Amino acid sequence: MTTEEADSGTDTSTNQAFVEVASLADLASEGQAVVSEGGHAIALFHYGGEVYAVDNRCPHMGFPLTRGSIDDGVLTCHWHHARFELAEGDTFDIWADDVQTFPVEVRDDAVYLDPDPEPDVPPAIRWRNRLADGLQENLSLVLAKSVLGLHKHAGNGSGTASRASSEDGGGAGTGGDIRGDGNEAEEDSAFRTTIETAVNFGTRYRDSGWGRGLTTLGCTASLYHQVGERDKRRALFMGARDVAADCADEPPRFQQYAFDNRDVSKERLKEWFRDNCEVRDADGAERVLLTAIATLPREDVAEMLFAAATDHLYMNASHTLDFINTAFETLEHVGWDSEAHSASDRASGEQREPRADHADAVLASTVNQLTDATRSEELSSWRQPVDIADLCFDAADRLPDLVTAGEGETWNEPSSFVETLLGDDPEAIIDALTRAIAAGASTTELADAVGRAATRRVAYFATNNEFSDWNTVHHTFTYANAVHRATAKTDATELYRGCFDGAMSVYLDRFLNSPRAPLPDPGDSDRDPVAIRAELLDTFDEQGKVNRAATLVSEHFDVCESIDSQARRASSDVAGGDPADLKRTLGRGLVREDAGFHTIQNVEAAFQRFDAVDDPLEKRLALMAPARYMAAHFPTRRETEQTFSIATRLQQGERLHEVE
Ligand code: FES
Repeated sequence: MTTEEADSGTDTSTNQAFVEVASLADLASEGQAVVSEGGHAIALFHYGGEVYAVDNRCPHMGFPLTRGSIDDGVLTCHWHHARFELAEGDTFDIWADDVQTFPVEVRDDAVYLDPDPEPDVPPAIRWRNRLADGLQENLSLVLAKSVLGLHKHAGNGSGTASRASSEDGGGAGTGGDIRGDGNEAEEDSAFRTTIETAVNFGTRYRDSGWGRGLTTLGCTASLYHQVGERDKRRALFMGARDVAADCADEPPRFQQYAFDNRDVSKERLKEWFRDNCEVRDADGAERVLLTAIATLPREDVAEMLFAAATDHLYMNASHTLDFINTAFETLEHVGWDSEAHSASDRASGEQREPRADHADAVLASTVNQLTDATRSEELSSWRQPVDIADLCFDAADRLPDLVTAGEGETWNEPSSFVETLLGDDPEAIIDALTRAIAAGASTTELADAVGRAATRRVAYFATNNEFSDWNTVHHTFTYANAVHRATAKTDATELYRGCFDGAMSVYLDRFLNSPRAPLPDPGDSDRDPVAIRAELLDTFDEQGKVNRAATLVSEHFDVCESIDSQARRASSDVAGGDPADLKRTLGRGLVREDAGFHTIQNVEAAFQRFDAVDDPLEKRLALMAPARYMAAHFPTRRETEQTFSIATRLQQGERLHEVE
């Protein structure tokens, strides 16, 4: 070190910028010290004749490690007793994370350290690995930290943090929030890494395959782009958390292999697949499906799966078709093939058979939903007092003729069509549906009509029913929405059967709308939409504000529709009155609660219905329905928010142990 370097306290003779931080004699005398360098509080320990430097913030929840103790080379934090190997910082307790260490040198009687050492692995990789740890060990705080870490360090590890602002930011008892700097590519990278890591884990480590955890993940991935900026990470955290919980203590899944014969026709593969599902042979069905993924266009794979999902009635009380649809939509977020394989194929320059690692894992994991499903024709409610199962099967048998009759025709939906679907005559309902097909109604048009009827079952749900029946109408609603979404993935005529099943479930739910809940008619309002949204959030703080929540949603639409859109954009007084803001408020209400699987599904499906319909009244109903459902289920204990808040404050460097 030169005299000048020694004077400045900086050693430039190596690549490491060592700085003098303490006297060795003083440190040896005290045993420990805290120094501040490079923005870190760094703990120095003199132990066993050696000097060690570690981040003074315990990686678990930030407690000062100089207030811990060292025994036998193990540093123990005194808050929750996490233990760390002193030299390299490795933890014995996976929930706590490794503590960062700093290189130290002793020169003469002075201690030098490098406050900014090169990390062993890039931060984005470190947080991805940590996310995997959190999934494996089912550790909510680790998951929350990882989602935040991935967003902060996406891209080149240069993520930035700033306070959220406006309606999107601050508050809600969270102690503030961290958000990215608006770099969309980095946000997308963090989003995709989180979803991909959770999908890879969830499809491998649950023997029974795709379940509620991965469905929640798929829903939160969809909600990510519709909630406010500060709630995006909460949404991903909720998804990852549910995957971890759903896989906890489950045996792993072993995936089958595609057939070597790649020259099997679509028709034969489809028949084999359905035959194997019919006899509940999961392994056989999976091998056929993997062969189809390797050889057929995606829409043909979708046709196979949705055909099998409608070979029996309303399978698994809606979940089979709904989960398969969500699996396809999750693939839209992560892609059919993994980036690792895409990159290796590009690098090799070879023409290879396309590989679809994600599609293989995701779609194969749904097979048990088909082979193990309850078939609603087995239920007495579908057989007595009216055999509605037979009505569905008869209508399905007539499909070829109905579709032929409808070719080239354009269906004009009768004005009373949805009310017919809401009626109490199942034969009239099936008759209306089959007439529509013969008149040219597409699967998308018919599924949309059933979806509008099913939306009303939630929107009109009478609160004098048993509370658990919220989920009865919820299942019908998400099933109908999933059938509609499925029609965008394949034009398979088998999806008409999904319309029959959905309509019969709407029929079975009729008593849950007796009497219909009072919904406000469209009107005028000059209230500030921001105040309406604030009050809507407030309704979720109290139990039972079901009808008030719907009224506020309706009033928000009143404001939007009573003001000319151009004037609305021009006037700052009423800015923010768009339904997109209302969605963000509902999203805010959702992610701050310990929202269950069904509630998350309900909101996601409602947002999809909102986007699917054009009629203003239908759009109102699409958002009034989830507002009522949410108000019925909120408030919760908000433990999830507490965990996320802790992770956020730790990332911001707050001292949690000093806050009451
Ligand atoms: S163990 Fe150190 S803060 Fe919890």
